[in-house]
Amino acid sequence: MQNTVREIPRKILVTSALPYANGPIHLGQLVGYIQTDIWVRFQKMQGNQCTYVCADDAHGTPIMLRAQQEGITPEALIERISREHRADFAGFSIGFDNYYSTHSPENQRLANLIYQRLQAAGHIATRTITQAYDPIKHMFLPDRFVRGECPRCGAKDQYGDNCEVCGATYSPTDLKNPVSVLSGATPVEKESEHYFFRLTNFEEMLRDWTRSGTLQPEIANKLNEWFETGLQDWDVSRDAPYFGFEIPDAPGKYFYVWLDAPIGYMASFENLCSRTTAMDGGRAENAGAVFRPGMRFDDYWGIDSTAELYHFIGKDIVNFHGLFWPAMLEGAGFRKPTAIFANGFLTVNGQKMSKSRGTFIKARTYLDHLNPEYLRYYFAAKLSSRVEDIDLSLDDFTNRVNADLVGKVVNIASRCAGFINKRFDGQVSASTQFIMHGGENLHLVFCDKGKTIAAHYEAREYNHAIREIMALADIANQYIDEKKPWVIAKQTDREEELQQVCSFGLELFRILMLYLKPVLPEMTAQAEAFLNVAPLQWQDCGKSLQHRINSFTPLMTRVEKDKINAMLAAEGPIVNAAKGSGEPARASTPSIQSDPIGATITYDDFAKVDLRIARIANAEHVEGAEKLLRLTLDLGNETRNVFAGIKSAYAPEALIGKLTVVVANLAPRKMKFGLSEGMVLAAGPGGKDIYLLSPDSGAQPGMRVK
Ligand code: MSP
Ligand code: ZN
Repeated sequence: MQNTVREIPRKILVTSALPYANGPIHLGQLVGYIQTDIWVRFQKMQGNQCTYVCADDAHGTPIMLRAQQEGITPEALIERISREHRADFAGFSIGFDNYYSTHSPENQRLANLIYQRLQAAGHIATRTITQAYDPIKHMFLPDRFVRGECPRCGAKDQYGDNCEVCGATYSPTDLKNPVSVLSGATPVEKESEHYFFRLTNFEEMLRDWTRSGTLQPEIANKLNEWFETGLQDWDVSRDAPYFGFEIPDAPGKYFYVWLDAPIGYMASFENLCSRTTAMDGGRAENAGAVFRPGMRFDDYWGIDSTAELYHFIGKDIVNFHGLFWPAMLEGAGFRKPTAIFANGFLTVNGQKMSKSRGTFIKARTYLDHLNPEYLRYYFAAKLSSRVEDIDLSLDDFTNRVNADLVGKVVNIASRCAGFINKRFDGQVSASTQFIMHGGENLHLVFCDKGKTIAAHYEAREYNHAIREIMALADIANQYIDEKKPWVIAKQTDREEELQQVCSFGLELFRILMLYLKPVLPEMTAQAEAFLNVAPLQWQDCGKSLQHRINSFTPLMTRVEKDKINAMLAAEGPIVNAAKGSGEPARASTPSIQSDPIGATITYDDFAKVDLRIARIANAEHVEGAEKLLRLTLDLGNETRNVFAGIKSAYAPEALIGKLTVVVANLAPRKMKFGLSEGMVLAAGPGGKDIYLLSPDSGAQPGMRVK
């Protein structure tokens, strides 16, 4: 049970969701890892004993199939992906204390242990179920691997679990004319015995637990819907062939990936405990048996644990972490999490990123072009404790990083360091603790803010922390603007004053870097080297510079639009998918103002595009859509329904009656809200800056644009 009194230093175990080992890390996933890493770095700077573990989520059908496709074993695939993931995370300075895999001996042991305890306590039931089976591939088909016609609205080519057109949810066996995505065969129905975790046994505990402050209010409300519709037993077994752990005493049956995935948190931690013991004690024969003091597995996972345990996850996996996981822990005699923190989803220039559609920016592609700390800063500036989606608007990203980090923070150092280096041989004034200015001691003002900033980091209100820090940066810049060291430098009798003003500037810069350290570990490390100070800890505000500094190297350069465009160009799919896959006119293409001209096409290529004049007969809001308007277009002799991502720039009333240009021969596209039959043309970066193309007066609906 949780202790209400916290030990000092606090013992904290933190996890991030385990990424699937079936593809590269993308920027959307990074929201969560960066959010977690900032929090962990902050805790470590506070002197707390904070441990951050993660792992690849290595099991499941998609991974098995992907390995088959590549003609390699799943083990070889997850090994390669693990190396890629580690490199991507390292590139963004995600400082895991351990990064492991769910396909590990520790995880198998713990999964078996938890399952057997649940079984012994009567929490596992068996039941025969009927499932779609691929008679050619000889395997049961997960819902997503069956497609067919929606049983409700008849829309073609829908997934086996829900219809993207009408929103109906159903099971794959309800689909009309179903086909297996794997072989194209018509699935047959086949029976099989499955093992179920009796979630209903935990209803009362879960009702209490989910309402006891362990969850963000939005998440608690969401999970409440599950209680209202009634909890269901959870199917935790899958039939062979499956890549995972075989269930004890159940040949041919495997644990469903989501059973052993969260146990991977424990396994990664257990692995860390044994490794640190082996390294510290050097007694390899005891590895795994003797734990380093303060890092014993049971101290963190035992039922009486007083350590804090936090899981950072994305909002799409809250049911697993807020219902199944605490129930499994409870049923198997382990402690439950102190809290679950869910983050919202990332959009890029207002558009959803999606793995399956290939519309995402890979972490690696970003790293090939841009400084990772730009992104860490941008996410920090936008993240709060709420489960809100975050938009990576590339214009806003550029402006924000350039204005704040380069224009404000680095600027302080670059305006002061040169004089100290050149005129005073790097020597800072004797005391930088009294920076009297406007009747106040700025050193105190800056240190006092440390409490507020710390409280914001602790509460995951990073956006507020950043706002406070930038307000301090403004004060430091005002100080330098008023003192004008570049003017003082021209007067030979004011040497001492010059040294002092610049030393004060650097001292304020030191404190700013201290506060930014959880967000910008690399830049801070460079600043520490240049300021010639030991790694900054939170309580170091009171210290001050009084020694010789090293020569100044530019800590961060401006974000260049060319680099952003090069990154987008490297992600071929994102641009192509956006421009050519039949999406409606988009609010914002994933590019910025200086969008480069695309590849040359022939006249014949162009002639394939049938552009027509259309009159907007009607325009209306779409319920539940953030960006879209529904347009009814009059093309002279026919009417089209088109969804256009222009809501941020146009009120629907303002559009009715307008003439515009539509791509009339674009393949119709099924969207969540209905069928989009074409695309209207618009320009601009997004947000309010979207400009619908409109022809000169006199053009008639239906005319071909040539
Ligand atoms: N393997 C599971 C998690 C198991 S945890 C015991 C999984 N993996 S994932 O690779 O699909 O996602 C990893 C994390 O990234 C999850 O927290 C997920 O919510 C998050 N995100 C995936 N796409 C995202 C965005 N576009 N935006 C923000 N977070 C996103 O889920
Ligand atoms: Zn439907």
